Amino acid sequence: MNEGDRLEIAPAVRISGKASVPGDKSISHRLAMIGAVAEGDTTIHNFAESADCQSTLDCLRDLGAPIKRTGSTVTIEGRGLKGLRKATGELNAANSGTTVRLMSGLLAGFPFPSTFIGDESLSRRPMKRIVEPLRKFGAIVIARDDNYLPLTIQGGSLFPVSLTMQIASAQVKSAILLAGLHAPGLTTVREPMPTRNHTEIALAEFGSRIKTHDDAIEIEGGRPLRGKEMTVPGDLSSAAFLIAAAVSVPDSQLMLTGVGLNPTRSGFISLLREMGARISITPSATGGGEPAGDISVESSELAGLEVSGAWIPNVIDEIPMLAVLGTRTQKGIRIRDAAELRAKESDRIRAVAANLRTLGAEVEEYADGLWVPGNQTLRGGEVESFGDHRIAMAFAVAGLFSDGPVTIKDPSCVGISFPGFFALLNTLKQNAG
Ligand code: S3P
Repeated sequence: MNEGDRLEIAPAVRISGKASVPGDKSISHRLAMIGAVAEGDTTIHNFAESADCQSTLDCLRDLGAPIKRTGSTVTIEGRGLKGLRKATGELNAANSGTTVRLMSGLLAGFPFPSTFIGDESLSRRPMKRIVEPLRKFGAIVIARDDNYLPLTIQGGSLFPVSLTMQIASAQVKSAILLAGLHAPGLTTVREPMPTRNHTEIALAEFGSRIKTHDDAIEIEGGRPLRGKEMTVPGDLSSAAFLIAAAVSVPDSQLMLTGVGLNPTRSGFISLLREMGARISITPSATGGGEPAGDISVESSELAGLEVSGAWIPNVIDEIPMLAVLGTRTQKGIRIRDAAELRAKESDRIRAVAANLRTLGAEVEEYADGLWVPGNQTLRGGEVESFGDHRIAMAFAVAGLFSDGPVTIKDPSCVGISFPGFFALLNTLKQNAG
C-alpha cells in the first residue's frame, strides 16, 4: 500500500465556514434514467459528482442515449419510451447498486437483452429483490444463483402488476415503477414502510401519471414523458458527515447551502435535533420538485437514543455516521431493525463495529444493528474503509474528535458519492496545535 492509499485525519479544534455539497446522488440517477426515455432534451444542473452517477451516464450512453456533460451540467437527448437500443457489450455498473436495480426496471420495457456486470462489492449484493418483481411484469431475468451479477434482462411487452414489496427498499420500488412506465395500464406497488420517494417526484415532473396513496403508489404505463430542465439539490447523505463534524467538534459553526430536505430522507437531522443538536434550517429554492434549504449547525451536546422501525429506511445511509456519533452522546445510540446494512457496499454493521473497536470503543453488534454506549473517548488508530465510501467518511469524522489522529486505509472510495470530501473538510477544519 503506498502513501495515497492511506489518509491521516488529525483532531480538530473547530469546524467553521460556509459550504455546499455535491448534487444528490439518488436524484441524479433518476433524472438521468428518466430523461433518457423522455421525449426531447433533459438538462440537469448540479448533477452529482459521484462515480456511481457517472456509471449511470456511461450505461445510458451504451444504450444509445446521447449525453453531454460540462462540469456539473448534464444534457441528455431523450430517446422516448421505446428508443433505447441494445448495448454492444455488457453494462458496467461498477460499485453502483442504484444503477443496476433502477436501470433493470427501465430495461424491462425493451425487447433486447442487456447484461449488467459490476465490481467485487456489487457482485456480492443481492439482486433477487428485483429479479422476482420484474419477472412478474413478464420480463426474462437471468442472474447468477438467481440473486447476483452478472444479471441479464430482456423484456418487451409487459403487463401491469400489483405488487406488495417484502422489504423496504427505494431501489426495488423504483425498479417496479420504472418497469410500470412501459406496461400499458395501472401498476400498483405497496411498500412495508415509506422509503425515499425521489422516483415518484421525478416521474411526476416528467409528466407521468403517478399517484401516491396512503398505502400504495400507482403509475399508468405506456404514456410518453417530456424532457425537462432541472436542478438537483445538494445531497443530504453527503451533508450528514459535515453536519456530524460540526455537531461533535467544540466551538463549531457551519452553514451548508442548498441541501435537499425531502422528508423521506431528512431523518438524520430530525434525530440529531431530537437528541439536542442545535441545527436550524432556512428553506431555499427547490430543485426538480424536491424541497431544499440552508442548514446551520453548531456544536452541541447529544443525549442519545434508539433508532428502529420506520426510521430505518429514512436514515439507512446515515447509520454509520450516527453509530460513530453514539460515542459522543450521553446515553449511547442503539440501532435495531437495520439488517439491510449488511447488504450495502460493505457489511456496514461489521465495519462500524470493527473500526470503533480499533479506536478503543466498546460496541455491541446485533444481527440487525448496533449498541454504541455513550461518553466514550476514542483513541487514534488505523481503520479500514472496507472500500465503502460511507465508512471512510464516518471514520474521518471520528478522527476530528478522537484523542489522536485516525488513519483511513483506502480512502479514495469516497469518490463513489463525494469526491471532494477530504479537500472540503480541510478547508472547514482548524487543526489542534
Ligand atoms: C437508494 C436507496 C437505498 C440507499 C441507497 C440509494 C436509492 O437503498 O441505501 O444508497 O437511491 O434508491 P435500498 O433501496 O437498497 O434501501
